[in-house]
Amino acid sequence: MTTQSGRLDVTMVGGGMITNDLLLPSFYHLQRIGVIHKIDICALDSSPLKALAESEEYREAFPGQFFTPHPSVAEAADKEFPELYKEVIAAMTAGNMVVVAVPDHLHYEAVKYALQHDQNVLCVKPLVLKYDEAVEIEKLAAEKGRLVGIEYHKRFDRRSLVAKRSYARGDFGAFVLGEAKLIEPYYYRSSNFQNWFTCDHTDPFTYIGCHYVDLVHFITGLKPVEVSVYGVKGRFPNGNEAYLWSQGRVIWENGALLSVLNGLGYPDAAAGSNDQGLIMYCEGEGQTGLIFHDDHQRGVAYSYLEGIGPGGSQYNYVSPDFYRLVPWEGPGYKPIGYGYESVAGITQTVHRIESETAGLAADDALARRRQLLHEVDAQGLLATPANSSINELVVEAARTSILRGAAAVRIVYGDHPHVE
Ligand SMILES: NC(=O)c1ccc[n+]([C@@H]2O[C@H](COP(=O)([O-])OP(=O)(O)OC[C@H]3O[C@@H](n4cnc5c(N)ncnc54)[C@H](O)[C@@H]3O)[C@@H](O)[C@H]2O)c1
Repeated sequence: MTTQSGRLDVTMVGGGMITNDLLLPSFYHLQRIGVIHKIDICALDSSPLKALAESEEYREAFPGQFFTPHPSVAEAADKEFPELYKEVIAAMTAGNMVVVAVPDHLHYEAVKYALQHDQNVLCVKPLVLKYDEAVEIEKLAAEKGRLVGIEYHKRFDRRSLVAKRSYARGDFGAFVLGEAKLIEPYYYRSSNFQNWFTCDHTDPFTYIGCHYVDLVHFITGLKPVEVSVYGVKGRFPNGNEAYLWSQGRVIWENGALLSVLNGLGYPDAAAGSNDQGLIMYCEGEGQTGLIFHDDHQRGVAYSYLEGIGPGGSQYNYVSPDFYRLVPWEGPGYKPIGYGYESVAGITQTVHRIESETAGLAADDALARRRQLLHEVDAQGLLATPANSSINELVVEAARTSILRGAAAVRIVYGDHPHVE
């Protein structure tokens, strides 16, 4: 690593919901525990940056911590800067980190650009929408010896990690039938989603179903071989047409079936913020096994005096497991939960690899980074293009299927994996 402080500089591309709700607070905390040096954030225009810069919650939780906005918050809100992130990345010292948190269809260009400028990458899921693009990114990352970590945070939920270990030990038998569900809140429909979550770009299965497909792969190690997705269309408040609900069927290499229900429509008035969970039945010798995760009602319910819950609700299921700001032994509040742990896991791995190779000659450093990256790929805990591109195959198959009215689309492996 070439930063003078031995800490990573981070450039975030995208200042929207996921940046506000998870990424920036995680990086602020990593900054004050000495992993991160400087934080720059690029957005399409100044408005989300202004909101982040003026956030009262951040001021309380991370007193005295700041980021550098691009464009400046003084720019007019209606002036767009779609290429500005490239200038900011091009000015970075090699071996730091770019965080890609723009809408799905923009990931490919931003991730490639970061790698071409010799940066490590944390990319929110899904990495890209096409398998060939994931392979291209995998090759570029290997050539440069830089990590691309895809932020599938459900992998870091303790229940997923426990299930993965138990499944590998054979405690449940072989996965045979499952159902996953993730229904996001109705109020998402009035957010910036309505500008990009359109039929031609994405759908609920691609957007959030991928979390549970990745999780079933993470727990079982099985590969998906066939996907079909049916989408139910509706309109956003601005009139844009979108798939607002979907059901996906994923068949796995051992013949197992996973049904995946997704949507943008969990009632704002209901205890939330969303509805989610996973059930997996497994076949054992003379009996069956079961994995059941209620990811919605995690055992904590609060009824507030005011409608301060998600969607303005008063009564809520509160998950302390994904992401919360809580008191700690330092100033302000710290983020806890698997969302933070996932961001920290990727960032600390980048930090470890860069620190370990910092003093070496360029060729030796590259060789050693490649070796360390190979270990990360093989371990299979962090999602990387080399170990998780079944997700791109599933997304590609899903997009093909939903646009063909739920046709069954096969995923063929071998030398050149593809969908047909
Ligand atoms: N559970 C999860 O893992 C999870 C949850 C939410 C979102 N996400 C992913 O995060 C990504 C962003 O989602 P979001 O909900 O934050 O979206 P959002 O619409 O709230 O924000 C998108 C941001 O991208 C910025 N942007 C767009 N074009 C840009 C450009 N050319 N240069 C710089 N910035 C640009 C916009 O200014 C905006 O700040 C998506 O890929 C989404 O799938 C993941």
